[in-house]
Amino acid sequence: MAGRFITLEGIDGAGKSTHLAWLVEYLRAQGKTVIQTREPGGTPLSERLRELLLSEPMHLETEALLMFAARREHLERVIWPALERGEWVVCDRFTDASFAYQGGGRGLADEKLALLERWVQGDFAPDLTLLFDLPIELAAQRMQGAARALDRFERETLDFHARVRAAYLARAAAHPARIRIIDASCSIEEIQKQLEEIISSV
Ligand SMILES: Nc1ncnc2c1ncn2[C@@H]1O[C@H](COP(=O)(O)OP(=O)(O)O)[C@@H](O)[C@H]1O
Ligand SMILES: [Mg+2]
Repeated sequence: MAGRFITLEGIDGAGKSTHLAWLVEYLRAQGKTVIQTREPGGTPLSERLRELLLSEPMHLETEALLMFAARREHLERVIWPALERGEWVVCDRFTDASFAYQGGGRGLADEKLALLERWVQGDFAPDLTLLFDLPIELAAQRMQGAARALDRFERETLDFHARVRAAYLARAAAHPARIRIIDASCSIEEIQKQLEEIISSV
């Protein structure tokens, strides 16, 4: 039985972490071996890069390069070996987030990101990407409910998050077979129903 690589994307507060936990349990209940991971992060080194990325001010291109450096490590040590073993890998954010945040949010040219994408992962892409989409104001409200300190990206302006959201939607339009848009303004139960339907067709 072949493994699958599923990524969850969307602006901060969209519900990725909430539904990732549910999805992992759902897949395990179906007897699948599932690895739950995240980006930036997923290996000891990549988690250290994550700490820097989420806290340390840096040049935009440094940020993009570190994101892809963390990704290279993650692919090599976690994602590819798991898929080779036939396991499922469910990942909180992946390359679409680089296009959305470093591209849309910060304005790095798509060509540079596409170059890094090709260098780091070749033709490799997720089998399925779930894009949690909702108005930025609603996402901001949900973030306020979360009782923890905001990171360097979460503290960005509404304008920044609007550009990130638009870049995600453009990415979905460019990759309609891979990226499924989830209406994340729905209730958690309604979203789980949407996810069950989508997953049954992967
Ligand atoms: N569909 C939903 N309806 C209401 N609240 C939600 C929904 N999805 C997530 N939340 C809440 O919104 C907050 C942000 O969700 P989270 O999963 O952490 O988002 P993300 O990981 O995308 O930043 C959490 O407090 C979560 O409980
Ligand atoms: Mg999260």
